[in-house]
Amino acid sequence: MASSPASSSIALFFLLVLQVITSETASAKTCPISQCSPNGPDVRFPFWIRERQGEECGHKGFEVSCDDRSRTILHMSEAGDFIVDAIDYGNQTVLVKDSDDCLPRRLLEDEFVSSYSPFPAPAYKNFTFGNCSSEYSSLISPGSGVQRVDCLSLGRGSMVVVSVAGDDLARLWMSQHHCGTWTALIPWWWQPPTSLGESIWLRWDDPDCKTCEAADGRCVLQDSKKGPKLVCAHKHALSTSAQFAIASLFMLPWLTCIFGFIWFLKVRVFVHRRLDQISSNGVPGSAPPNGINREAVEIARRNAIGVMGIDSSTIESYPKTQIDDLGQLPRPQDDVCAICLSKYERNEMIRTIPECEHYFHMYCIDQWLRKNASCPLCRNNKG
Ligand SMILES: *[C@@H]1O[C@H](CO)[C@@H](O)[C@H](O)[C@H]1NC(C)=O
Ligand SMILES: *[C@@H]1O[C@H](CO)[C@@H](O)[C@H](O)[C@H]1NC(C)=O
Ligand SMILES: *[C@@H]1O[C@H](CO)[C@@H](O)[C@H](O)[C@H]1NC(C)=O
Repeated sequence: MASSPASSSIALFFLLVLQVITSETASAKTCPISQCSPNGPDVRFPFWIRERQGEECGHKGFEVSCDDRSRTILHMSEAGDFIVDAIDYGNQTVLVKDSDDCLPRRLLEDEFVSSYSPFPAPAYKNFTFGNCSSEYSSLISPGSGVQRVDCLSLGRGSMVVVSVAGDDLARLWMSQHHCGTWTALIPWWWQPPTSLGESIWLRWDDPDCKTCEAADGRCVLQDSKKGPKLVCAHKHALSTSAQFAIASLFMLPWLTCIFGFIWFLKVRVFVHRRLDQISSNGVPGSAPPNGINREAVEIARRNAIGVMGIDSSTIESYPKTQIDDLGQLPRPQDDVCAICLSKYERNEMIRTIPECEHYFHMYCIDQWLRKNASCPLCRNNKG
């Protein structure tokens, strides 16, 4: 019956609504988070690994790759490659070190700051370098203010030490030990360095996702007419189950309406059939089967299938009488037709309903019975 096209249209509707709701979030889908090793930093926007995440998952200048030792390698165009030890997405800083373990040398290279880089150094700090005899190596104490930079110590019997420029103790130490000194500018990004270590925090300002990250969101690139646009996606709202839950919530009233309507249709059909059964089995005047109340059935019939009358042949079978010339009626006190409220006149035709013996003008009761299956006076059913 009506249920199979109805259920398929519901399924179609369901899919459509789900599609509409999910398409909002699908275009802003978060890219998968990747790692070069289980202990390595999370790689996600703006960083991206070409083989694992699409170009749309990252930003220019933030491409990383995994080397054969599962280290995360950041490629900075002219400055070359660096090992990424950590990424702080909240502060937008990345901890890098030199693959040859000589970060000071890398920092002293002009290319480091002159090349295009998403990590433009915000400030510089002067450091004093000293070229001293390596025989004083054992005399370097933590309180001396100088530190050895082994990777810069090239000549035999010599070593390079470094200190923050302006450190009086360090200057004293270097002069006492006859070091040749020079000063060089070292860039810094995150915090002014107090020493030259093996690694350094680089900072990026563009793309700026600090507020998004602080709100526990994730920056994603979303396609727009003017090209990719940076949007903040909230990771909790993006899980498939959450999407499904939202979709279900949206559709609940709709589904209720549709199923309610189908139920209504089915009840209608059921009542119709039941009544047909009753009218074919039931004997007029006797109680219908299964103890169904006649009046209730009549009400149900009127409510569920609308008003229904009796066919013409049944009406014709009801006894009709012509009032004689004297105007004598079957019951003299019943002298007004309850339908048209006019008195019965001589020679008029009346029709009597067999069960209750109520009579009316023939043209009045015939019209009535065509629309109603009961006596207008006693509502005696004539199903
Ligand atoms: C930023 O760095 C500071 C100092 O290292 C740290 O205390 C803070 O938690 C970091 N903020 C975020 C959001 O990671
Ligand atoms: C570094 O030192 C030079 C001279 O030795 C000075 O001209 C310059 O201003 C210093 N720069 C900073 C950032 O301290
Ligand atoms: C340090 O000085 C020695 C001579 O005292 C010289 O041979 C060496 O090249 C110097 N090293 C640097 C890095 O300047």
